[in-house]
Amino acid sequence: MSMINNDAIISFDEIKKQKEYISLVREILADKFYDKAPKAFVHTYGCQGNLSDSERMKGLLFEMGYRFTDNNEEADLILFNTCAIREHAEDRVFGNVGRLKALKEKNKDLIIGLCGCMVQQEHIKDKIKKSYSFVNLLFGTHVSYKLPEYIYSILTRGQKVFDIESNLNKIAEDLPIYRDGSFKAWIPIMYGCDNFCSYCIVPYVRGRERSRSSEDILKEAKQLIDSGYKEITLLGQNVNSYGKGLKEDIDFADLLKKINDIDGDFIIRFMTSHPKDCSKKLIDTIAKCKKVSHHLHLPVQSGNNRVLKEMNRKYTREEYLELVEYAKNKIPDISLTSDIIVGFPGETYEEFCDTLSLVEKVGYTSLFTFIYSAREGTKAAKMPDNITHKEKTVWFKELTDLQEKIAAKRSLDMKGKIFRCLCEGKGKNDNELIARTDGNITIEFVGDEENIGKFCNIKVTDTLTWIVKGEIIKEN
Ligand code: 5AD
Ligand code: SF4
Repeated sequence: MSMINNDAIISFDEIKKQKEYISLVREILADKFYDKAPKAFVHTYGCQGNLSDSERMKGLLFEMGYRFTDNNEEADLILFNTCAIREHAEDRVFGNVGRLKALKEKNKDLIIGLCGCMVQQEHIKDKIKKSYSFVNLLFGTHVSYKLPEYIYSILTRGQKVFDIESNLNKIAEDLPIYRDGSFKAWIPIMYGCDNFCSYCIVPYVRGRERSRSSEDILKEAKQLIDSGYKEITLLGQNVNSYGKGLKEDIDFADLLKKINDIDGDFIIRFMTSHPKDCSKKLIDTIAKCKKVSHHLHLPVQSGNNRVLKEMNRKYTREEYLELVEYAKNKIPDISLTSDIIVGFPGETYEEFCDTLSLVEKVGYTSLFTFIYSAREGTKAAKMPDNITHKEKTVWFKELTDLQEKIAAKRSLDMKGKIFRCLCEGKGKNDNELIARTDGNITIEFVGDEENIGKFCNIKVTDTLTWIVKGEIIKEN
C-alpha cells in the first residue's frame, strides 16, 4: 500500500528477493550447524537511529536462523554498526575491530562485518580493505536490507562483500524487526538529512531526506501499542522535515496528531527537531496532544550569530530564543534539551560566551556537549582553527559546570512534586528502580520489579545535581 504514496520505497520484487535469500541462508545454516543455532554478536555505536537500524538488521539475522550473543568469542558472525559523527567514535571502532583479528585466526569461518555511517565513507572503506583484511563483509547505510544476499554470497562463494552504494536514497518496508525492548520502541519516520550543517558528516553518509508513509508508520505504531508497548520514540535526523516528497499532504505535526489518536495508554517521544523548521504548529500540537511528551530536544549548537551562520544552521540566536519563549508560554512545564558544539573553527572566547548566556537564558534540563571534531569532506574541515584542543577543553568545562548548576536548580524545583513516569528497569542500588518523567528526567526509587514497564506516580523526595530520588505513591 505504501508504494502508492511513496516513490522512495524499495520495490516489492527486491524485498521478495531478499526474503528468498533469507530462506536459502536458513537452509544452509541449518545444514552447517545442525543441532545448534549459529550465533551473532551485533554491536551498535552512536545514536538512536543506529540502534533502530540494528533492530532491523537483527530482524533479518533472526529470520535467517541466527540467535544473539553478548560474547563475541562464541559468535559465528560479528557485526559492528558504526558511527562517524566524531573522530573519537571512529577511533573506538578501529580499536575494537583490530581486536577481532585473533578471533578470526581461531575460527576461519567467522564472518566479520562492518556497516553504518563510518564505513559509508570511501576513505574508511579503503582503509579497512587495506589494513583489516580479516573483515569479510562491509556495507553502507543505504543497502542494509540486502544483508540476506550478502550472507548468502559469503556462505556459498566464500568471497568478501564490500558494498557502499551511496545514491539509493530508498526505504525498505515490510522486513522483520527484532526489538531490543519490550515496552519502549523506536520508530524511524524519516531517513537522511539535507541540511548540510558545515561541521556534519551525516548528510554525506546517510543520503537525502526521505519519509516513510504515514500508513506504514501508523501500522507499526498500532502493532506496538496492541502488543503492550508503552513508549514510542519517533526518529529522524530532522523530524520537522517529515512529509517532504510524499504524495500525501502531511507534516510532522499532523503525524504526531494521528499517532496520538491511537487508542491506548502510551507516551510519544521524538527526536531530533531542527530549530529552523520547528513550527509554532508543532508546538501547538505538542500542547494539545495528551500522549506527546512535554520534552523538546532542540539542538542550538551555538548561541552566537556569526558562528551559527558559519555552521549553516539557518536561524539566529534571537529566532531560537523566540521559539523557546513560544514553547514555554504554550507548554509551561516543557523540558528543553540541546546539543552544543564547543570550539567550532574560528570561534572566539567572546563568541563562546554567547553560548553560555543562551544556555543560562533557556535553562535546559540537560545538554549533550561536544568538542568540535573535524570530519573529512565537510566544509568546516577546511576552515582555519586556531584554538588548541586544550583551550577548548577549558571552555567545555565552563559550559558543563554552568549546566550542572542549572540542572541542580531544576532538580531542586522537582522536590515534593508528583510525576507520572514510566518505570524502565533496575537502578544501580539494590531494591532501586529507575523511572523516567514525561520531561525525560530519571528518578530513582525503591520499588517492586513488577513495576517495570508500567506507568507509576512518583513523588520526588530528594535531589542531587543529576540524581533525583523519589517514592512510589500509587500504582496504576
Ligand atoms: N564535531 C562535534 N560535534 C558534532 N556533532 C555533529 N557533528 C559534529 C562534529 N563534527 C554533534 C552536533 C549534533 C550531534 C548529534 O552531534 O551537536 O547535533
Ligand atoms: Fe547534521 Fe545538521 Fe543534518 Fe543534524 S541537521 S544531521 S547536525 S547536517
